[in-house]
Amino acid sequence: MPCPARFLQTLEETTRYFSGDASAWSMVGIPFTAKDGTRVVFREPETEDARSLMEFINSVIEEDMSGIMMDKKVTLPKERVWLRKILKEVSGRETVMLVVESDGEILGNCHVERHHMKLSHRAMIGIALSKEARGKGIGEALMKATIALTRKRMKGIESIDLFAFDYNKRAQKLYRKLGFVEVGRIPRAVKEGDRYFDELTMVLDLRNK
Ligand SMILES: CC(C)(COP(=O)(O)OP(=O)(O)OC[C@H]1O[C@@H](n2cnc3c(N)ncnc32)[C@H](O)[C@@H]1OP(=O)(O)O)[C@@H](O)C(=O)NCCC(=O)NCCS
Repeated sequence: MPCPARFLQTLEETTRYFSGDASAWSMVGIPFTAKDGTRVVFREPETEDARSLMEFINSVIEEDMSGIMMDKKVTLPKERVWLRKILKEVSGRETVMLVVESDGEILGNCHVERHHMKLSHRAMIGIALSKEARGKGIGEALMKATIALTRKRMKGIESIDLFAFDYNKRAQKLYRKLGFVEVGRIPRAVKEGDRYFDELTMVLDLRNK
């Protein structure tokens, strides 16, 4: 799938952008070919994405042991409000977000949000992909691209943290592969139905990297 014209067009161009040799406000769109040959684009979200984002996240929410915190499906009005807030934070350099698009459909997203006040040298990352996009190298590439964009856009970020449910071994393996280390665990932090699970805190140190 060709990358939309308004986005950076090639990996070379994107690499130049990430290394600072381009306008800081170019919209990012990175073509990526998954392990099974599926072609997707990692791109920044737009107002028109609300419906597709809602459909994607609702498909994850309805999975048993989804790995994500959300427990109730979202409505389109709520998704529009959330997306407006995200887009505002993106322009204020408080958030970066990339969605995975394939054939006009959103299959995932990854977003990094700066913490506030005395914690504002830190940020938090979250990622989710729809079922059909998993296990093909998309999650790893998407996280790497989102972290690279964070370093480019959000000045002063020294570390990125995340939470992972104890049962979510797949996600933990990906995070460890990318250099995140476990720094804490809250017992019985998560309650799904009548089942309890621990929650892990993991951190990626960005200093000297
Ligand atoms: C977790 C998630 C983002 C991983 O993305 P993905 O595209 O499936 O992962 P990738 O194919 O890029 O694989 C990257 C690494 O993750 C790990 N991984 C992926 N699938 C795995 C599986 N089924 N079992 C164990 N580890 C797995 C491996 O370390 C893999 O690297 P490798 O191929 O060199 O072994 C994705 O599966 C997802 O969205 N799951 C549902 C929502 C979720 O759990 N979000 C995270 C909340 S904390």
